[in-house]
Amino acid sequence: MTTPHSLQFNSDHQLQHLLSIEGLDQRLLTEIMDNAESFASLANQPVKKYPILRGKTVVNLFFENSTRTRTTFELAAKRLSADVINMNIATSATSKGESLLDTIRNLEAMHVDMFVIRHALSGAAHFIAQHVAPGISVINAGDGNHAHPTQALLDMFTIRRHKNDFSSLRIAIIGDILHSRVARSQIQALSILGAKEIRVIAPKTLLPIEVNALGVSVSHTLEEGLQDIDVVIMLRLQKERMSGALLPSESEYFNCFGLTQEKLAIAKPDAIVMHPGPINRGVEISSEVADGPQSVILQQVSYGIAIRMAIMSLIMQTPGRHHT
Ligand code: CP
Repeated sequence: MTTPHSLQFNSDHQLQHLLSIEGLDQRLLTEIMDNAESFASLANQPVKKYPILRGKTVVNLFFENSTRTRTTFELAAKRLSADVINMNIATSATSKGESLLDTIRNLEAMHVDMFVIRHALSGAAHFIAQHVAPGISVINAGDGNHAHPTQALLDMFTIRRHKNDFSSLRIAIIGDILHSRVARSQIQALSILGAKEIRVIAPKTLLPIEVNALGVSVSHTLEEGLQDIDVVIMLRLQKERMSGALLPSESEYFNCFGLTQEKLAIAKPDAIVMHPGPINRGVEISSEVADGPQSVILQQVSYGIAIRMAIMSLIMQTPGRHHT
């Protein structure tokens, strides 16, 4: 049986698909971040283009809403000179009953090279990667509550740009860990990169039962959990994945787990504040913090382009790629 992480590499041990952080090693994560450095500097150039993917076709297939991921994947592919198709799922034939695999088969017949997939079902990107023709790559842009590997990589890149050495860092991930594909991928990436401590801060109802197996420490209050923290990562309440009431109310949640300037002062004075977005002001974070001097939230969005350029160029230049 293929697992998401075994399927990611071809027979030459080169990255063919990016489905999960699980199964990647420190050398590869570092290589992707190093390559992203050169693409990040491109943002200041008058012509923001490289010919690396000239002649290649990338299809963005987003079955779930997105602002940041879809747009930055499109920009990244265009800045690498690829042709980009953004499938509008609402107006595509999937609304007439076509199966996901039939949609993929039809797009393959148009000689595309890469699918970027977001789907509400965990495992959707893995499923597609199992069925695409040899030579076609799949990048997971978020599947259910399973994984969001490119988000985790851009988050690691943001942390590295501000803090440099992971081995001395204590990182707190705060909020709805239970439903968060971002948190799962971040915890895996931080573990691989050797972070000193990964701490999750959440009410018990928003933690997975198997939280202790994740290799994290756990706190249930910001007052305790923010002590000595270098990096604060906030998560939104993912109501679209909640079944039943897990919290008394949003205002009660904000009182206990919302990041205000007063609560942030408990962390180290030079702590940075991150959030994958979309942010919900007054629910998990105050505007004062989101727009404040310690916030790097919009830098994360900018670095998302550089990281996605690095990932797409690495995958598409994999030796032995060929079309059938
Ligand atoms: N961080 C993130 O995945 O945002 P979008 O849902 O806007 O893509």
